[in-house]
Amino acid sequence: MILITTPGKVGSEAARLLAERGEAVRVLARDPAKADGLRQAGVDVVEGDLNAPASIDAAMRDVKSVVLVSPAVPAQELNVIDSAARANVARVVKITSRASADSPIARQRGQVEIETGLITSGLGYTLLRSNFYMQNLLMLASGISRTGRFGSSAGAGQVGFIDARDVAAVAAEIASSPERHTGSMYLLTGPELLSYADVAATLTAVLGRPIAFDERTVEEDKQAMMNVGVPEPVAAMNAHAVSLIAEGEAAWLSDDVPAILRRQARTFQQFITDHLAAFS
Ligand SMILES: NC(=O)c1ccc[n+]([C@@H]2O[C@H](COP(=O)([O-])OP(=O)(O)OC[C@H]3O[C@@H](n4cnc5c(N)ncnc54)[C@H](OP(=O)(O)O)[C@@H]3O)[C@@H](O)[C@H]2O)c1
Repeated sequence: MILITTPGKVGSEAARLLAERGEAVRVLARDPAKADGLRQAGVDVVEGDLNAPASIDAAMRDVKSVVLVSPAVPAQELNVIDSAARANVARVVKITSRASADSPIARQRGQVEIETGLITSGLGYTLLRSNFYMQNLLMLASGISRTGRFGSSAGAGQVGFIDARDVAAVAAEIASSPERHTGSMYLLTGPELLSYADVAATLTAVLGRPIAFDERTVEEDKQAMMNVGVPEPVAAMNAHAVSLIAEGEAAWLSDDVPAILRRQARTFQQFITDHLAAFS
């Protein structure tokens, strides 16, 4: 049995891929109704909360691999690691970012704390450190479709964006054939470095109408995120993270996705083509 700790973007796609391959897969969900589609696809959906160790222990029954993905609150993910150790789980595949202990972004420092907890737990582990997800753009999709423009404080900085579906595909691959990958760390990116102006050009080409990119301040970026419902502290942290793109923080690529999946990573053009409805 493979346990996936949340049915978010990465978790639900990983669960779907594993069920499609005939693997026994379970997803822990705060609200199982939201994961009804996964249940219909053959996934065992169980109710739980990462703040409630007893619910994690119940979900850990007969589990050999865990895909650890969540908003990365250290206490919650460390609860999962402790539960996996109690259950003698063979390995944990941890979805993380390219973090450093002295990052100015609290979530990044939290990722380091979780990674350290996992590495020192004695469990088998694989770390998947991803660049920015293409899916972050979906937050701006309705604004783009209404106004034909979007903005950010990333300036001319480049990003090795990855499609979250490819993060899920790598996690699913490793969770179901883990021996080769135990103790490894992979860097997950798409195939190209793109600035936000490049993203606007790709949107223009795929949608067939002009989409403009506006440079914004960090404060304007934070307000735009709050306008689409992101809570203030998260918007402040995310806006700060985006502003670091201007300093080259996300300008890195890796070949780990094609090496593990034996196919190319999805391009931004592919991502937009697959989400046309959201931008139209
Ligand atoms: N976005 C990026 O650009 C990026 C880049 C690199 C790495 N990452 C990493 O990716 C991870 C996030 O993955 P994602 O994008 O797949 O997540 P996501 O789509 O934001 O989904 C988060 C999931 O966590 C669930 N959840 C939240 N609190 C919970 C709790 N207390 N107990 C149980 N479930 C809970 C949510 O359930 P509800 O629906 O009930 O809220 C939701 O299903 C983070 O570690 C992040 O650092 C993201």
